[in-house]
Amino acid sequence: MHKNSMIKKSPQCRKCLCEFNRLEEARFWSRIMEEHALFIKLGLPADQPALREKAQEFIDRFAVLRKRLNKVCKLEGKLLEDLINAVKDIIEFKAKLLRLLIQCKAEPGSNYPLLLDHIRREAMHFLNLLRTPVAKDPLSMLLQEEVFWLRIMKEHIEFIIHLLDPSERELINQAQELRKTFSRLLETARDLESMNETKPKRFNTVLRFTKDVINSTIQLRNFKAAAFELAKLCKLLSIVSTPLLLDHVRREADKFINEMKVLLPEVKKCTSAFRENDKTLSD
Ligand SMILES: [Fe+2]
Ligand SMILES: [Fe+2]
Repeated sequence: MHKNSMIKKSPQCRKCLCEFNRLEEARFWSRIMEEHALFIKLGLPADQPALREKAQEFIDRFAVLRKRLNKVCKLEGKLLEDLINAVKDIIEFKAKLLRLLIQCKAEPGSNYPLLLDHIRREAMHFLNLLRTPVAKDPLSMLLQEEVFWLRIMKEHIEFIIHLLDPSERELINQAQELRKTFSRLLETARDLESMNETKPKRFNTVLRFTKDVINSTIQLRNFKAAAFELAKLCKLLSIVSTPLLLDHVRREADKFINEMKVLLPEVKKCTSAFRENDKTLSD
């Protein structure tokens, strides 16, 4: 039997990827979008009232969408359409701000260009979730999510390093160690994703790698949570515009961990389905 037809026939493999809940995703990401608009606003220079006002419009727009999302039990119709339009607009707003900085046509304020690109990519990721149903096999999807999130996690650490006061040497040192780990993990995830293009019947190294990713991300998540607590208690020297930023990146780490914990057993199930049918496979 051909491998692809076996994936289709395996009940576990067919079911697993459709199980992601679009409404839950929308609730999670809408809050993220609202907060991005707040971070942009706080980072813009005081002499940019028009851009600050535009950022405030996005805060209000996503706040309203979040209320609507909390009232429904299915994401469809006008709400889905309004959400897609809001996400498209905020992507364009982030891209416009980034272009202004790249071309030196605006004062940077405290929004790093890489931060604008980072939150633009997160918005594009959300838009893709809203637009397209997930149709990949679990292994490809796992690797795709790992490459996306590991880049995000690595950048969070880089932002934190640059926002901490230089006197916070112990925390900066801890963050630098985490950055090294996540740079390595990202590079490996990209290699494994590339190797997976050859469509191996099983790829046990990915399972081992994903366990390492989960463990390292739990460590990073705890680091972010601790930094958030310190900032809230005014025990941290930094130029972080609001402690909410640290909670925001902690929630994104938790989201990544949860996705890995959902996808990993699915990949294992599909791998064992192949193993049972090994005798019928020619290569
Ligand atoms: Fe974010
Ligand atoms: Fe992020």
